[in-house]
Amino acid sequence: MNILVYPHEILKTKARPIKLIDGALQEMIDQMLSTMYEAKGLGLAANQVGELKQLVVMDVAGKGKPEKPIVLINPVIVASEGEEIGEEGCLSVPDYSAKVKRAAKVEVVGYDRHEQEIRLQAEGLMARCIQHELDHLNGLCFVDRLSPVRRVMFRKKWARIRQDKT
Ligand code: NI
Repeated sequence: MNILVYPHEILKTKARPIKLIDGALQEMIDQMLSTMYEAKGLGLAANQVGELKQLVVMDVAGKGKPEKPIVLINPVIVASEGEEIGEEGCLSVPDYSAKVKRAAKVEVVGYDRHEQEIRLQAEGLMARCIQHELDHLNGLCFVDRLSPVRRVMFRKKWARIRQDKT
């Protein structure tokens, strides 16, 4: 699957809830997982592959290989606690990373690919990854969370990075 690059319109659009977990969706989940592992990412949201569906895949344990894959359908953060600043990157913003403030702990509720409810309490990298991926479903990239000053710096740097690539 092709990963969309910031600032693509679909990355800025809210994903819609999934109403049916069918064969086509299972296929999409498998493709998203392999795309994520291939790109050595920790998480991937459906927006990033051009699908406006509330679906994310994650594996914070295995960088680039299947370790503990997690599939979240229609996920919602129901509780969050504390604050933590940490470095983030994104497969849609290649060659760039920045510090982002997130909740230190979150509790997320959603469905897995077998339509079973999942409730996860997470902290550390997992909590950060959940918040990052759910942001994508709401049409937000981590760079949208930078302070106004840092965002100006990002835009300049990003323009340079993109120019070097073409
Ligand atoms: Ni991302």
